[in-house]
Amino acid sequence: AADMLISTLKASGLTRGRVTDLGCGSGILARKLLDQGYAVEGIDQSVAMLALAKSRAPEAVFRRETLFECEIPPSIAVCAIGECFNYRFDRNNDEAALDRVLHRVYQSLEGGGIFLFDIATPDRIVKAPSKNFFQTQNWTTLVENRHSETPLMMTRKISSFIRAGGYYERVDETHHLRLIDPDTLAHRINTLGFEFEMFECYGPTPLPAGCVGFCAYKHNSSEPG
Ligand SMILES: C[S@@+](CC[C@H](N)C(=O)[O-])C[C@H]1O[C@@H](n2cnc3c(N)ncnc32)[C@H](O)[C@@H]1O
Repeated sequence: AADMLISTLKASGLTRGRVTDLGCGSGILARKLLDQGYAVEGIDQSVAMLALAKSRAPEAVFRRETLFECEIPPSIAVCAIGECFNYRFDRNNDEAALDRVLHRVYQSLEGGGIFLFDIATPDRIVKAPSKNFFQTQNWTTLVENRHSETPLMMTRKISSFIRAGGYYERVDETHHLRLIDPDTLAHRINTLGFEFEMFECYGPTPLPAGCVGFCAYKHNSSEPG
């Protein structure tokens, strides 16, 4: 996602300015943007993620807030990478809250600015395997996906086994995701005044099955038409 954002910014002549990263996680995108000369403001609700982000990208500004309520500073780009609009860490995440944040993103962007994000759609239920696992030398993660119909939600139960000396520590997490209809969302961002393209890969990296990306542009008011 970072490479796609940076090349899109450069292709649009946006070589300096602030990028706001909603759901910034561990600051990987922030680090890459800083290295290219951009300023970065990152928002995340997770203390642990923000601690990683601050050590990886100390020149950036990070705030612990919910992206559904936070103030978005004037930006040349706003991004929300990795299903950030889907998670229900914030129990107020619903259609209306999403509408409000989309509106604030639009207001915060300068003319010609870019809004890059991805969402998990209802297809995620069909396409994501109900059980999956990932393994590295010191880390094994088991994932179980379940869903409920009204509202359309996916529940992801994650158990990680982390090698600590001769033992494994087990960490359990449960994530609830509100699945978002891509056509309804496309209509909303169009109504706000964005032009956009939808995509299924960040460059060579495919999005997870059932996710869709949006690269949206705020019309540049200095351009005719
Ligand atoms: C899958 S991670 C992606 C992190 C990062 N954007 C990346 O691409 O590596 C999703 C992140 O969104 C954050 N998040 C989810 N809901 C949020 C909310 N309502 N407000 C702020 N952060 C949120 C989580 O804490 C997590 O760090």
